[in-house]
Amino acid sequence: MSPTPLIKVPVITVDGPSGSGKGTVSQHLAAELGWHFLDSGALYRLLACAARRDGVALNDEAALVALVDRIDAEFTLSTGGTERVLLDGEDVTRALRGEDTGNAASQVAALPAVRTALLAWQHRYRRPPGLIADGRDMGTVVFPDAVLKIFLEARPDERALRRHKQLKEKGIEASLEEVLAEVRARDERDRTREIAPLEPAEDAHIIDSSDLDVDTTVALILEQIHTII
Ligand code: DC
Repeated sequence: MSPTPLIKVPVITVDGPSGSGKGTVSQHLAAELGWHFLDSGALYRLLACAARRDGVALNDEAALVALVDRIDAEFTLSTGGTERVLLDGEDVTRALRGEDTGNAASQVAALPAVRTALLAWQHRYRRPPGLIADGRDMGTVVFPDAVLKIFLEARPDERALRRHKQLKEKGIEASLEEVLAEVRARDERDRTREIAPLEPAEDAHIIDSSDLDVDTTVALILEQIHTII
């Protein structure tokens, strides 16, 4: 008798630059399908927060890898959608979303050993009935066997506006000019790094969300999902 084939938990990846709307869109998709949600950027951000707390330099690859093994993180999302993140029991929700943390995350994310160390953590999110994975390299590196790969784009000025609005809603002060400069700098680093650069997978569906609202973007992706599931 031949062995029962292992049925792999389906993954849908949503990659793209910061401010493309992928986080919000991914959360809506996960809620709509009743699937798990991985915000992979939050793991890089958490590592950056832990490094700051422990005085680990953002280019100290070995120390950062050791830190990944020690981190105890807890993510909760209230039914109203309010996020709370604990790092070793300490509430880091606010610090996690700041632009300086995003920048530090982008620096640690350029280190190959750090990316490898975070792979197992990301793979653990793949649980039944399915996973929506949001990031930069979800479709290219972390879940290359995803059943659907989306790459969300948007013009830099539009992405800066969205980030600025998000930060304001979280009570984080920053000027629009600062946010645009950060968005451009981070894009440049994420797109040009040697390992797992931000780029669409060959089989990704590219969607430009510059002139689309969240509901329209989600509806477009759901249409694609329903052709395969
Ligand atoms: O999505 P975000 O802004 O929270 O991500 C913060 C940084 O983490 C981003 O600038 C690049 C890095 N990152 C990455 O390299 N790979 C991922 N899969 C997710 C984030």
